[in-house]
Amino acid sequence: MKSDRCQHYGVDPSKLPRHVAIIMDGNGRWAKKRLMNRVNGHEKGSETVRLIVTLCRELGIEVLTLYAFSTENWSRPQAEVDALMGLLKRFIVSERESLKDQGIRLSAIGQKKRLPLDVRQEFDTTVAYTASNQGMCLNLALSYGGREEIAYAVRKIALKVKSRKLSPENITEKSVADYLYTSNIPDPDMIIRTGGEMRLSNFLLWQSAYSELFFTQTLWPDFTEQEFIEMVKDYQNRDRRFGKVLCSSNDGSQQQF
Ligand code: IPE
Ligand code: IPE
Ligand code: MG
Repeated sequence: MKSDRCQHYGVDPSKLPRHVAIIMDGNGRWAKKRLMNRVNGHEKGSETVRLIVTLCRELGIEVLTLYAFSTENWSRPQAEVDALMGLLKRFIVSERESLKDQGIRLSAIGQKKRLPLDVRQEFDTTVAYTASNQGMCLNLALSYGGREEIAYAVRKIALKVKSRKLSPENITEKSVADYLYTSNIPDPDMIIRTGGEMRLSNFLLWQSAYSELFFTQTLWPDFTEQEFIEMVKDYQNRDRRFGKVLCSSNDGSQQQF
């Protein structure tokens, strides 16, 4: 099924990104352009989420991380924060059955404890309901901030050192990564940002070290499956060197030295 869908879209199934992460930006501006409330933009944006989740599942992508709410977004007007939390809860409930049917497992990164209790409860229910799914992991970044995540990891590492379970000289890149929220998922191969801004806004700071970055002016509610596919094709044509030297051999294949 995976290669069928890839073929349909002209995507090479052997060079798929394992992990795609998206900064879903531009909902407010989408609404403003239509003289609507920002919340209407978020509502419309949740329709795009459905489309892109299903497309990624069909293509055979392993992990899709969606930046839904940053640690800084708590500073927005309370009415917008409340509306976003309400929308999140609705999404988690309304998509429960569909995620299960599509073989998608739900997970999250971020400060789950800061979410309202009712949102947390519905979230945990959907996580449990989809836990045995193997098709794709839909990972929501909720009250997520890259710097907060690193500080959280450092606190946990410090406790290990304090209790003499870890010595400072044994702290490696791998051990830091093991204490991040993303310890069990690969680094993102692609990071997409809609809405025209060219910044990461505190998203996956550690994990994005070698991610391929994609920026589009398209506002998230207007983002389409076609545009996503074009980005995947662009990704498949990029040379990922990871700081090494890439040599093309005459059979067209590439080797790293
Ligand atoms: C992204 O859209 C959604 C969240 C941050 C929750 P915005 O609400 O940031 O929309 P713009 O950037 O103001 O258009
Ligand atoms: C990033 O968008 C956060 C999410 C998409 C959830 P923001 O709209 O919050 O980022 P800035 O303020 O433009 O950097
Ligand atoms: Mg924004």
